[in-house]
Amino acid sequence: MEMEVKKPRIIAIANQKGGVGKTTTAINLSAALTRLDKQVMLIDIDPGAHATYGLGILAHKLERTVYNVFKGEATIEDAIIEILIEDKSMDFLPSSLELAEAEMILFNTPGREFLLSNALSSITKYDFIFIDCPPSLGLMTLNALVAAREVFIPLQAEFLALQGLSKLLDSIAIIKERLNPALELMGVVATRFDGRRILNREVVEKIRSYFGEKAYNLPIRENISLAESPSHGLTIFEYSPSSYGATDYLALAEDILERT
Ligand SMILES: Nc1ncnc2c1ncn2[C@@H]1O[C@H](COP(=O)(O)OP(=O)(O)O)[C@@H](O)[C@H]1O
Ligand SMILES: [Mg+2]
Repeated sequence: MEMEVKKPRIIAIANQKGGVGKTTTAINLSAALTRLDKQVMLIDIDPGAHATYGLGILAHKLERTVYNVFKGEATIEDAIIEILIEDKSMDFLPSSLELAEAEMILFNTPGREFLLSNALSSITKYDFIFIDCPPSLGLMTLNALVAAREVFIPLQAEFLALQGLSKLLDSIAIIKERLNPALELMGVVATRFDGRRILNREVVEKIRSYFGEKAYNLPIRENISLAESPSHGLTIFEYSPSSYGATDYLALAEDILERT
């Protein structure tokens, strides 16, 4: 009998626009799935290291980060940090500010777009691996989209939310064609939603009509606790478990599990 090898779902959280909720979603969706007993790894490949600092880790003081993995100096296992979420835990691969140099250092390295994919190839123990991408379509996002099988796109529910999206969707199509045939759009989620604003509701309607069933039903509401929790180094579930933010990210996680 053949042993079935568990394949993690590798999901890039991408949008070249900054401030749309990628990092907030990466941290709190990973935490929500951890709370639902899934084995999760979160990877920060943003040279800004927002997810790393947001989880209370001082990126500039770390000895091993995703940067060392990219340079072939460390394995993912060497660099992983365990993040406790109540009585459960998830694995986190931190970023560092040095990652900004990687783009230049790796410029002439053959196969530089496959570095993350190769580093992940032997990793099988997770249900989900999320990759928090930087706000650009550079080498780091390219590595994420080559390593991932799915792309999840947060869209801020505001004017011009869809602007720039065709460029992202084009990039996904090109990467699928040339580098990663398995890549699929997992879905989009509206973030920072304020139901009192007619414009927000219109944008969510637009997202639904454009993406159909790929648009996740429940938007993530604007919630002050979500904005505050990173400065305490905590996920929303520890910082404010009864907030809208905790409710919404748990609902999103449940929706994701129901769809599979
Ligand atoms: N649902 C939300 N409610 C309130 N503030 C939010 C929400 N989502 C994100 N934010 C805040 O908006 C800013 C940008 O979010 P972030 O997740 O860092 O976006 P990105 O990673 O796409 O640049 C951050 O200050 C974050 O705390
Ligand atoms: Mg971010």
